[in-house]
Amino acid sequence: MLFLTHASQLLTLRCESGDSAPRRGTQMRELGIVEDGAVLVADGKIIAVGTTDEVAKHELARKADDVDCSYNVVLPGFVDSHTHPVFTAPRLIDFEERVAGASYEEIAEAGGGIRASLRGVRDASTGTLATHVRQALDEMAAQGTTTVEAKSGYGLSFAAEMKSLEAIREAAHQWPGTVVPTLLGAHVIAPEHRDNPKEYVRIICDDMIPTAAKLKLAAFVDVFCERGAFTMEQSQRILRSAVEHNLGVRAHVCQLTPAKLAPLMEFHPASLDHMDFVSDEDVAVLAKLDTVATLLPAANYFLGLDAFAPARKLIDAGVPVALATDYNPGTAPTPSMPFVLSAACTHMKMSPAEAIVAAAYNGACALRLQGRKGSLEPGKDADIAIFDATDYRELAYWFGRRYSQE
Ligand code: NIG
Ligand code: FE
Repeated sequence: MLFLTHASQLLTLRCESGDSAPRRGTQMRELGIVEDGAVLVADGKIIAVGTTDEVAKHELARKADDVDCSYNVVLPGFVDSHTHPVFTAPRLIDFEERVAGASYEEIAEAGGGIRASLRGVRDASTGTLATHVRQALDEMAAQGTTTVEAKSGYGLSFAAEMKSLEAIREAAHQWPGTVVPTLLGAHVIAPEHRDNPKEYVRIICDDMIPTAAKLKLAAFVDVFCERGAFTMEQSQRILRSAVEHNLGVRAHVCQLTPAKLAPLMEFHPASLDHMDFVSDEDVAVLAKLDTVATLLPAANYFLGLDAFAPARKLIDAGVPVALATDYNPGTAPTPSMPFVLSAACTHMKMSPAEAIVAAAYNGACALRLQGRKGSLEPGKDADIAIFDATDYRELAYWFGRRYSQE
């Protein structure tokens, strides 16, 4: 049992409306701040939340180990709802080429990009991949993340995608936080099927998805619906198979080029990710739905793009927005949610409060975990980040710093 006391600011992320819907509009600014805040924890669950004086009256408070959080901001651990941690090496040649002027798509066309990460993953053992994933999870935890969505997607064969998901499972067992596994066999067409993409889509639908579902290796199926990756028709086929196998659905869409979202909506995606080129009509449609728009500004930063996703337009229209790192070797080699908060405020004009709600509560919604994660309320999992700061705005203000936080 733990009793966290005297937090300079405790951000509960409780919302006045009290419901469990994704936060939208002005709800995205409600941090539920308690000064001199306290949290009482037993058996991994939150028992009580409030001021230190209030929570101290709880009968269990006397028996719990006291953790003094003076000069700390305490909040729900970040939910990084979009990461690609199963790879073996950084893509340094791609990086140099891009810095010298080549675009992400040009590099991919020339044999770099996602396919350049494939050999390492196919040749590695499950244990080696799990070690890489575990290292990434530890780096994320050191920056305040307690829940991570982890995608496969650099194996691109039945065997290598299943191995990637097994590596995620192995790493998750060793890590104290929560990991949500996603099958992203549909990252790009595997090189051996480039002349017959239909066959690769068949392998995803008939082999990868049924096996991942049967062995409970994935909670979601994702697809990179984009020029040079999967067409809308191929994406629909894949997501239909996911739904048939009772797996959740999410998609990378509108990252590099515009796309109409209507054909994806019949699958009720938990989240649509990137959304840089989302249309005004689709913004209006999304404002009425619980599908979360997950924005990934670290990718825009790393690709050196001038434009970022239209966060203000989405939030002001009432679309629930989440933030995640997109941790991956090609477009976002960062485990840091605080860096993402900084990029979201500076480049997408989100307020620090909106960025925090997007990075915790709405991230949980993007994984359909808001019943357990994303706010500090009695009964929820005790996933708590303690930051070495006294004002929540510091979380988005400093960047590239080391926090001593647990
Ligand atoms: O989210 N867009 C597709 N997937 C990743 C990039 C993966 C890679 O380049 O390795 C992304 O940006
Ligand atoms: Fe991604």
